[in-house]
Amino acid sequence: MAKLTIIGTGYVGLTTGLALAKHKNKVTFLDVDQNKIDMLRNGKAPFFEEGISEAISNYEQFTTYTVDKDVYNDSDIFFVAVPTPEKEDGSSELKYVNAVLDDISKYRVNKDKFLLIIKSTVPVGTNKKIQDLLNSKDLNGEVASNPEFLSQGTALWDSLNPHRIIFGVQTKWAKDILESLFASFGSPMIVMNLESAELVKYASNAFQALKISFINEMANISESTGANIGDVAAGMSYDPVIGNKFLRSGIGYGGSCFPKDTKSLAKQAKNAGVNSFITDAIIKTNESQVLRLSTEVLKYEGRVGILGLTFKPGTDDTRETPAHYIIKELNKNGIVPIVYDPKGQDMYKRMFEDDRVIFAKDARDVIASSDNILLVTEWQEFKDLKEKDFEDKKVFDGRRIYDFAFYQIGRGYKA
Ligand code: UDX
Repeated sequence: MAKLTIIGTGYVGLTTGLALAKHKNKVTFLDVDQNKIDMLRNGKAPFFEEGISEAISNYEQFTTYTVDKDVYNDSDIFFVAVPTPEKEDGSSELKYVNAVLDDISKYRVNKDKFLLIIKSTVPVGTNKKIQDLLNSKDLNGEVASNPEFLSQGTALWDSLNPHRIIFGVQTKWAKDILESLFASFGSPMIVMNLESAELVKYASNAFQALKISFINEMANISESTGANIGDVAAGMSYDPVIGNKFLRSGIGYGGSCFPKDTKSLAKQAKNAGVNSFITDAIIKTNESQVLRLSTEVLKYEGRVGILGLTFKPGTDDTRETPAHYIIKELNKNGIVPIVYDPKGQDMYKRMFEDDRVIFAKDARDVIASSDNILLVTEWQEFKDLKEKDFEDKKVFDGRRIYDFAFYQIGRGYKA
């Protein structure tokens, strides 16, 4: 059992800490946001994610939530899960990490060597820069990288059952600490240098995005040639080299990872003087794919309804959601759609204040008030809708869930 501190209680920090608490480590969560800490102390998750509230109460005896920076003295292992947004030039904005280092130098009186484990996805070379910052502040700390591979919607499960755990380290000291922390997870642990660990994360995300963009290109070819992408993907998926994951064609990927990470990878390649033909094509294909539904529906007169605002089901997250690009396109053409999402309406409102939409109270409301309906996010409650629920409205299916749709990605118009 180890004592450790998690700095930042977002998706990554909270799920990582809860997973380590499940393995009977003493975990202190530190955040600057008193509101979040109060919620967590009361057993409430600060965001919607399956199983998080239960985990907060189940592992209560191993966790502490605080804003008190004196906790920097309580352990020698820190996981950093604060934002590291990307700057215009492709490098990471390190002001939040820098603030953590300032706090460590201010509050840590304990002079023992500490391990600073960076969870954030950061451009290759960033962890070295963080080590330089540490050194420049005369802190007795060593940086290690431990990228996170969780998916939203299954974040906790993914943190508890990682396919692999990557450690980017500089010394055997760091390797030993990380291996002993994660040994009980039973997942493969792969040790490498800092730069490789940073690149594994970008390479993995870009490869997944590649599969999506590739199958979407095949979907568009299918539509124009009479093939059906569902059959094409099923036929491909039996080849073990290809596999059956991430071959769901649709209106493109969104979310907090794929769009940002593919763009960052392309920029990193350019900064390094290397071509990024494939990554550039992934990005371009997706930018065009998110507009497939708006392009089709604009060919028809009538009021437009939208089912789904989040970038995928199971989350309230609307970051980089295809819905936003579709709505912008509709607004540009003078259309104000009526929209509904079971979880994402609040975040959508906050994030895209300039989008003109009418919020509905449920799917029925959307259907009743529109002539053409776009299915954008495949929530279960939308999957449960039957042909008769849509009355005689035209359905444009962006996620391939309605066989009866008037238009469906990868199949085209109903014969
Ligand atoms: C992703 C990766 O899955 C995860 O490994 C990584 O660590 C972070 O990024 P996440 O962004 O939560 O996780 O969602 P994911 O389920 O991968 O979906 C991303 C987007 O791709 C969604 O918009 C989804 O609708 C789309 N997608 C996914 C497809 O269009 N087709 C697919 O076959 C799979």
